[in-house]
Amino acid sequence: MNMKALIVNEHGTVEKLSLGEFPDPQPGKGQVLIDIHAASVNFPDLLVIGGTYQNLPPRPFVPGKDLAGVVAAVGEGVTRVKPGDRVIAQIEHGAFAERAVVSEILCMVMPAAMRFEEGAAMGLVYLTAHNALTERAQFRAGEIVLVTGAAGGVGLAAVQLAKALGAVVVAAVSSEEKAQLARASGADHVVRTDVPDLRESFRKQVFDAVGKRGVDIVLDSVGGDVFDACLRVMAWCGRLVIIGFAAGRIPEVKIGYLLVKNIALIGLQSSDYRERKPEVVRNAYEHLFALYTEGKLKPQVMAAFPMKDYVTALNTVKDRKALGKVVITMR
Ligand SMILES: NC(=O)c1ccc[n+]([C@@H]2O[C@H](COP(=O)([O-])OP(=O)(O)OC[C@H]3O[C@@H](n4cnc5c(N)ncnc54)[C@H](OP(=O)(O)O)[C@@H]3O)[C@@H](O)[C@H]2O)c1
Repeated sequence: MNMKALIVNEHGTVEKLSLGEFPDPQPGKGQVLIDIHAASVNFPDLLVIGGTYQNLPPRPFVPGKDLAGVVAAVGEGVTRVKPGDRVIAQIEHGAFAERAVVSEILCMVMPAAMRFEEGAAMGLVYLTAHNALTERAQFRAGEIVLVTGAAGGVGLAAVQLAKALGAVVVAAVSSEEKAQLARASGADHVVRTDVPDLRESFRKQVFDAVGKRGVDIVLDSVGGDVFDACLRVMAWCGRLVIIGFAAGRIPEVKIGYLLVKNIALIGLQSSDYRERKPEVVRNAYEHLFALYTEGKLKPQVMAAFPMKDYVTALNTVKDRKALGKVVITMR
């Protein structure tokens, strides 16, 4: 049997993808077959489609990392979920399709009140924000957290999560529309990156907001000039988590500066936790879903597009227009 799926036959722009038939996946031992209802678009999908991501499967393949749906069947030995359960899961690729197969340990049963679009939007970006803040930066309540790209997928999740956990949150964004969303999502202060002389202006804006002591933690998914500016606003013993380089340039650092201020630069590759520490992922989701149920996290679904409108969905993220998350729906 075949299913409908977005297919990468050759790497390139989003327009090079095709919507076609792909063989139905079959659940093996310990695996779960999911009827996908919604899958969210993540910035790394564009890198995968473009062929510049660190982890690429052989072609043809189905991209997409974040899905929400219903368990259709389970393979031998599966005990954690059963047919009919509403779940979310993250996979390396394969979410932009009607069905996918996922290891049972990576299937998280969704809270009853959560819609599939919200579930898909609460996948990779919230896990990344959680890993960045708690696992990598070892956040303590009351600390000042600066989030870059704060109206994007990872950024907005990080703003909401940091606020929910008791941070003073500074959001860095590039437009008034994004500033409003960051404020509405809990940011205590907003600083702008679409300014002349970012290097000096950024430091002035952050110091005006929180004082010259600076910020304890930076969660940076933008890189480039924004990263460079962030390094100049760190408090003594600050921690900067490197999440991504949406701006395109991978920064380089003069490490003397880290020594002088006892600053830690910390890398994060969230997807690694799926294989290496699945219990961290499960604990994170227990925490995230509890915060959702308490009303402290609200996944922001900017738009949900049917599969046939995949070009618009993916290009909304590519063109830096996403406010929160863009979702593709399958049924
Ligand atoms: N380390 C990990 O495990 C992990 C996991 C997920 C994602 N990521 C990475 O994190 C980054 C953000 O992912 P996301 O899904 O949150 O993306 P997103 O929703 O598109 O948000 C990215 C943000 O980056 C800013 N940006 C600055 N220059 C940009 C440019 N030239 N093009 C696009 N955005 C630009 C934008 O904010 P402003 O307009 O306000 O500047 C945008 O809101 C990506 O680099 C992604 O690869 C890493």
